[in-house]
This record gives sequence, structure tokens and C-alpha cells, in this order.
Amino acid sequence: MKKINTIVFVAMLSLLTIPNTASADGFFSWLFDFSRTKGVEPVSNENYQEECGACHFAYQPGLLTGDAWANLMQVDKLEDHFGENAELDDEEVRTELLAYLKEQAAENSYYKRSRQITHSLNGEEIPERITDVRYIRRQHHEIPESLITDNEDVRSLSYCDTCHTKAALGIYDDDTVNIPNHGVWDD
Ligand code: HEC
Ligand code: HEC
Repeated sequence: MKKINTIVFVAMLSLLTIPNTASADGFFSWLFDFSRTKGVEPVSNENYQEECGACHFAYQPGLLTGDAWANLMQVDKLEDHFGENAELDDEEVRTELLAYLKEQAAENSYYKRSRQITHSLNGEEIPERITDVRYIRRQHHEIPESLITDNEDVRSLSYCDTCHTKAALGIYDDDTVNIPNHGVWDD
């Protein structure tokens, strides 16, 4: 009996301490599936997957904060999106995608990497890119440029999924890395 009380107490305490976990579903998957919540929450919006996964893999919303997504999703910014036109034809779609990105942004997520990204931005910085986030840059300090920009099958750190074999699932652990023309990462 005492043991059960302890479990109930711990569960209730967790409920109080997890930020913004509105749905019971989210809470129970967090409670019971530790490996999944180590990364970032996978993409769950089909329109987002399609529109924002056309040129590069669809970055999970939990890789940036809401303010950073709002900045990136401005109409004029999308027209000149890192040198490309990523304009959305339909204003309704832009509004829907922005709402999705903000709802699932790093600061609203209970996934470990998202919390680290939020923490690293200090509540102030609004990065233009995921690869500008200090936490993300720090993780890649030790990789020589010859394996990134000089590697024709990678070209830039932005293409997470060229090295992180499970990036589309929101998993970025170093033991799931396989760098093209190099191989697994064992530092
Ligand atoms: C027409 C092609 C295209 C489309 C469509 C597109 N992007 Fe991009 N995106 C790019 C290019 C090119 C880059 C820069 C890659 C580089 O620097 O090597 C980029 C970079 C980014 C980055 C920064 C990656 C980093 O370096 O951290 C984010 C975030 C991003 N895009 C989000 C989006 C979102 C959200 C959408 C949907 C609204 C979208 N993109 C649609 C081409 C596109
Ligand atoms: C050139 C290949 C490459 C690209 C592209 C790349 N990464 Fe990585 N990433 C690595 C390697 C290698 C490590 C492990 C580095 C180490 O342990 O020193 C790593 C580590 C990480 C880690 C920490 C993993 C851990 O176990 O703690 C995260 C998070 C991460 N990357 C996210 C990203 C994201 C997000 C992107 C895209 C914006 C990205 N990476 C692009 C190769 C890459």
C-alpha cells in the first residue's frame, strides 16, 4: 500500500513539474517512454511535412523557440528564405503552420533536446537558424569542416538527416550518426 502511495505521489508531483503538458496523452507517453522523449517530438502535421519538407527534411518544431519560428515564418522572410523562395501560396496555410510551430515550439515541449535548446537561448535570443543555437553549435564543435562543408554529400550542418540517421524520428543521439563518406562517429 505504501509503495502504491509513493507511486501516485511521484506521478502527481511530475504532473505539477512538467511544463505545459496540457494533454493526459502527452503526459503518459512522457512517463512511460523514456527513450522517445530524449530527442525532440516528431512532426505530426501533414501540411507542415509537405510544405516545409520539400527542400530539406521537415525540421521538428521543438528545434526552435516560438519567437524564432514567428520570425522565420513572416511573409517577406519566406520570400527570401536563405536565398530561396519558400513563399506559401495560401495565407491560411501559413497561419496554420505558424500556429503548429508555436504550439510545439521548444519552450512548450517536455522532450530533453527541446528543453536544452530553450535553456541555451536564455529566453532572450531569437536565432535565425537552428544551427545558430549555441547548444547545437557546441554539439558539433569537434567535427572537422572537411566532413561538413567540403563533403559533397552533406554540404552544410543544416542537413541534419544526412548524418543523423534517425533525425526524422526526432532522434539525434551521437550513436545514431553516420557521416557520408566517413562513417559512424566514434570520438
Ligand atoms: C524552396 C526550398 C525551401 C523550402 C520550400 C523551405 N526551405 Fe527551409 N531552407 C531552405 C534552404 C536552401 C535553407 C538553407 C540551407 C543551408 O544553409 O545550407 C533552409 C534553411 C532552413 C532553416 C535553417 C536550418 C539551419 O541551418 O539551422 C529552417 C529552420 C528552415 N529552413 C525552415 C523551413 C520551414 C519552416 C519551411 C516551410 C515554411 C521551409 N524551411 C521551407 C530551403 C527551403
Ligand atoms: C556532418 C554530419 C552532421 C550534421 C549535418 C548534423 N550533425 Fe548533429 N551531430 C553529428 C555528430 C558527429 C555528433 C556527435 C558529436 C560529438 O559527440 O562530438 C552530433 C551530435 C548532435 C547532438 C548531440 C547528440 C548527443 O548524443 O548528445 C544533437 C542534439 C545534434 N547533433 C543535432 C543536430 C541537428 C538538429 C542538426 C541539423 C540542424 C545536426 N545535428 C546536423 C553530426 C552531424
